[in-house]
Amino acid sequence: MSNVVVVGTQWGDEGKGKITDFLAQRADVIVRYQGGNNAGHTIVFNGKKFALHLLPSGVLSKDKINIMANGMVIDPRALIEEIIGLKNQGITDFNLKISNRAHIVLPYHKALDTAFETGDDRIGTTKRGIGPTYTDKAFRSGIRMGDLLDEEYLEKRLKSALETKNNVLKMMNLPMYNFKDMYLELLNYAKVLKEYITDTSALLNEFLERDKKVLFEGAQGVMLCIDHGTYPYVTSSSPTAASIPLYTGIAPKYINNVLGITKAYTTRVGEGAFPTEFDDEISNSIREVGNEYGTSTGRPRRIGWLDAVILRHTRRISGITGLSVMLLDVLSGIDTLKICVGYEFRGKRIDLIPPIADHLAECKPVYIEMPGWEEDITGVRKFEDLPVNAQIYLRKISELTGISVKMFSVGPDRLQTIEMEEIL
Ligand code: GDP
Ligand code: IMO
Ligand code: MG
Repeated sequence: MSNVVVVGTQWGDEGKGKITDFLAQRADVIVRYQGGNNAGHTIVFNGKKFALHLLPSGVLSKDKINIMANGMVIDPRALIEEIIGLKNQGITDFNLKISNRAHIVLPYHKALDTAFETGDDRIGTTKRGIGPTYTDKAFRSGIRMGDLLDEEYLEKRLKSALETKNNVLKMMNLPMYNFKDMYLELLNYAKVLKEYITDTSALLNEFLERDKKVLFEGAQGVMLCIDHGTYPYVTSSSPTAASIPLYTGIAPKYINNVLGITKAYTTRVGEGAFPTEFDDEISNSIREVGNEYGTSTGRPRRIGWLDAVILRHTRRISGITGLSVMLLDVLSGIDTLKICVGYEFRGKRIDLIPPIADHLAECKPVYIEMPGWEEDITGVRKFEDLPVNAQIYLRKISELTGISVKMFSVGPDRLQTIEMEEIL
């Protein structure tokens, strides 16, 4: 297979960054296709830890081309800080290309994201301005990375966008922004970023035609998809594999090898229904052992059992052809493990996710129980060396989801990754 998609199958933070970094060592090109710095992708190797928010997780492997595609929303200040941060950690020579069609997150987007996040119907966003930036994209008032390369055009677009936005901010009793300050700030960002900005769709098509190995790195997870997630408690883009052709400017025929990343259990940050969530000594221990605190915001993640209803939904939506099961080591020492195989909704058994958030909140999970294992498995490097109950657990996941488990992971380090079948 020459192209692989890494897609989150749950509510994000499944370990996409770790697997992308692992596979990137064999790829030529790594592409982030949606989201912005709401993402936090953690990578650990040689005793060093890296947290990436905007840059593709290929930047830590040498001689790769890293593309930030048109479907992304990019906060230029956060991007420059991330590049400087990496340089301070000794990562200096990565090849980066930024789409001229990717939208820019501006200060007023962040202000609005924060302002909308008060009250009972808040989504629990990362307050990085993601929703308001995608809103402006759809409203046709967004500013794009390519606009930074034409001062006159940028001036015209920003003037018009800011005029409307300042009216909105005024109505909301929020501070307004000065055009000149914002314009000059953007021109300064342009000086640093212009060398990276290009037509990434044309470039990517060229690579694909030349049979280069391309790795697509999703952010978030399918349950946070604006169309197929737990709306309205979702992000504002689509993390599904189906969105890649649109978000990168390539033909759908290239998307046929989709690796779904799942935790061996489930987590969620932010608001919204989560049928298998539980809160007791076991969930607290999972949170501590798995270090389940947000990479971007530091928020404690909510913990639940693995949910096969969700994984089957993700499989349908995203055409998942293989699974990578992450954080299996975190389940060591739990006597009885549970997997949700269906929901009970108003006295009836259902196997599909209801579209209405309040209905999902009413769903009671139907569980099967499985015996756990005691052993520390962080040193395991082969499927056969796993305790028998851990082997049975992985086989059960394949059986319940109809997707074969092709990889699993027993710790945060690159070396703690086991590939049962060659992915790329
Ligand atoms: P992403 O957003 O999907 O890239 O995932 P995050 O990086 O936000 O969260 C995954 C967390 O789990 C990070 O802290 C990783 O270092 C960690 N991690 C990944 N795989 C494993 C694993 O197999 N075992 C353990 N213990 N931690 C892991
Ligand atoms: P990675 O790529 C987990 C969640 C937020 C909130 C909702 C909307 O690290 O898996 P947004 O700021 O996007 O408008 O927030 O989506 N969310 C994530 N949760 N991992 C992420 O990214 C997330 N990105 C957004 O917590 O519930
Ligand atoms: Mg994350």
